[in-house]
Amino acid sequence: MAKFKTLDDLGEVAGKVALVRVDLNLPMQEGRASDVTRVEAVRPTILELADKGAKILLLAHFGRPKGQRNSTMSTSYVQDDVEDVLGKEVMYISEVSGPVVEQSIGILRNGDIGLLENVRFWPGEEANDPEFARAIAAHGDFYVNDAFSAAHRAHASTEGLARLLPAYAGRAMEAELKALDAALGNPQAPVAAVVGGAKVSTKLDVLENLVGKVQHLIIGGGMANTFLAARGVDVGKSLCEHDLTATANRIMDSADHAGCTVHLPYDVVVAKEFAANPPSVRICNVHEVAADEMILDVGPQAVEALADVLKTCRTLVWNGPMGAFEIEPFDRATVALAKTAAALTEGGSLISVAGGGDTVAALAHAGAKDDFTFVSTAGGAFLEWMEGKQLPGVAALTA
Ligand code: 3PG
Repeated sequence: MAKFKTLDDLGEVAGKVALVRVDLNLPMQEGRASDVTRVEAVRPTILELADKGAKILLLAHFGRPKGQRNSTMSTSYVQDDVEDVLGKEVMYISEVSGPVVEQSIGILRNGDIGLLENVRFWPGEEANDPEFARAIAAHGDFYVNDAFSAAHRAHASTEGLARLLPAYAGRAMEAELKALDAALGNPQAPVAAVVGGAKVSTKLDVLENLVGKVQHLIIGGGMANTFLAARGVDVGKSLCEHDLTATANRIMDSADHAGCTVHLPYDVVVAKEFAANPPSVRICNVHEVAADEMILDVGPQAVEALADVLKTCRTLVWNGPMGAFEIEPFDRATVALAKTAAALTEGGSLISVAGGGDTVAALAHAGAKDDFTFVSTAGGAFLEWMEGKQLPGVAALTA
């Protein structure tokens, strides 16, 4: 793993201004965050810097305001949630640079926290405009990036600032980079990857990267249907990207050449309608799906076989559910496999790393989230990392 500086490398910071990039892009419901996991993730970094007496300026985006002020996307909306999680007062600052920021720094005492306005209100952010980055950097003595989930964006606050100020990974970023390195950078073999979700088309690059890196590729969710169809299985009314069967075959060929076993379900849970516990639900062999049935989950025999595969592995990386886990009984394969992975992790035989929006919800539903070695709070950034791409925000920290 490329080297990067962490908070351990900071010298005396009392009275210094820390520009700390965090991800406060929180899901909202009736004016409050419905999930504060991302704030909890950055809490250790903020409190550590506060304890050391730095003046902390939080820098974040909130939604996609496209370079314009938009009152519905002000970071002031998340101020209360941030205060609650930190257990400290936070001063909202309506700009990201200029006299208002300078005056606010004058008011902040050592260890106090300011929350700058949504950095995406300014076009210079997404354009990674050096002028804009310099204007922000002028207020800080050093820069800390604790927003892995925004590190796939080459923006002023995620990339530009790291090149203008002494730059450090925050504690959440540090943990994320170490976990990701243990999962795919420098993993203990054999490595298994679980890739699920609706469509192959959204995860083509992920699959192509993984076949060269892992020994077992477990494909679930709607995308497994495309692979089954490519192998000549009639998947009935199932979600399936028939135009991608050639691509699926190519991925399976590359896997063969690379010595990666692709695991597709051989029994499945099917139904005629997509509803909770429909009367038509049944388990069958993949070759017995009727023309009016949909595959909605991996079957119990396949799940048992996959659990046996995981028992032989040392490392697991997981993205995407195995079935339509939001609706019963199509959550069973995801729940069973997540529980197996959690138990193997607890037993010490498996390093398990998971990430991506749906995945975290699926693991939480299975009650397995807290037992994984690491669960990433990132969505798009986690996927790009699984695609083998270099993330600009990380590259700038390791430069
Ligand atoms: C996210 O919510 O995944 C991150 O905050 C990145 O947001 P973006 O996709 O708008 O860049």
